[in-house]
Amino acid sequence: KVLADFVRDLPKVELHLHIEGTLEPELLLSLAERHRIAMPYANIEMARAAYEFDDLQSFLNVYYLGTSVLREERDFYELTQAYMQRCKQQHIIHTEIFFDPQTHLSHGVPLDVVMGGIQSALREAELEWGISSALILCFERDREAESTVGLLEDALRIGGIAGVGLDSAELGNPPRKFQEVFKLAKSLGLHRVAHAGEEGPPDYIWEALDTLEVERIDHGVRCMEDPLLVQRLLATKIPLTVCPFSNVELKVFPDLHSHNLGDLLAAGLSATINSDDPAYFGGYLNDNIVETMDCLSLGVEDLIVLQKNAIEASFCSASRKLEMN
Ligand code: HPA
Ligand code: ZN
Repeated sequence: KVLADFVRDLPKVELHLHIEGTLEPELLLSLAERHRIAMPYANIEMARAAYEFDDLQSFLNVYYLGTSVLREERDFYELTQAYMQRCKQQHIIHTEIFFDPQTHLSHGVPLDVVMGGIQSALREAELEWGISSALILCFERDREAESTVGLLEDALRIGGIAGVGLDSAELGNPPRKFQEVFKLAKSLGLHRVAHAGEEGPPDYIWEALDTLEVERIDHGVRCMEDPLLVQRLLATKIPLTVCPFSNVELKVFPDLHSHNLGDLLAAGLSATINSDDPAYFGGYLNDNIVETMDCLSLGVEDLIVLQKNAIEASFCSASRKLEMN
């Protein structure tokens, strides 16, 4: 209780959040009705009951099904606005947000509609509540890479992208497939991150570092299987955006007590705590922090380290970082 209050009041930074993963059943069903799209859930309870996953792919199936109700600019605005409202409640002062344009394009939703809706909600949250944000365009690694250069160019014409990421089904989809578009992103001065070492082996983390030149690894929890890789991450100070509830829900760890966040911190790695897809995994950032601290017996000093790591790992300006510290 005392800990929960402390966590709630502490100003925090979130670095691993898929905006499509914040689609709560209430909004999902109301958007389905708005657009007359049939969903296999008749009510909120049925939707929640479907949120039981065996692995990453079984989650992605439900997650991508949910995205099919997002059609118009106002849908993306309402989705993002609801998450930014949560940020305000949770005292998140800076957030870096992923979105999956290839999925929306495959539903016939143009990029400017997606980005326009998200960005107007982000601008409003900054103006009204002082919450800063960065938008990261994710490529879906289980789709073809050919169209991604054109997609990135389209996004740059619209503007407001801080960086690129890589998400979706990891196993069988190694990072090197996206080498070309990440190289272009680097040459344009964009930040680069990639999901790696969530379900995939440590080799995928090596590959993300070497072929995509990423600045952060999303998840990365399997790095502990490879001592040389841990050395590399330490030497280059590459942060890991760890998502405890996600890892348990997708069976990366059998339960929160078995999570290796404590080991990552003990090894000196720059780990951070994040919520990933909070509408699907049972909680937003503060819930992730409180329950993980509880299960792993982490103290307030660990929480301070985690949040200092997040500030440092963020893509904020040096002056904004100072302000947040
Ligand atoms: N991993 C990979 N792809 C995703 C995730 C994730 O945790 N969430 C949304 N897309
Ligand atoms: Zn993720």
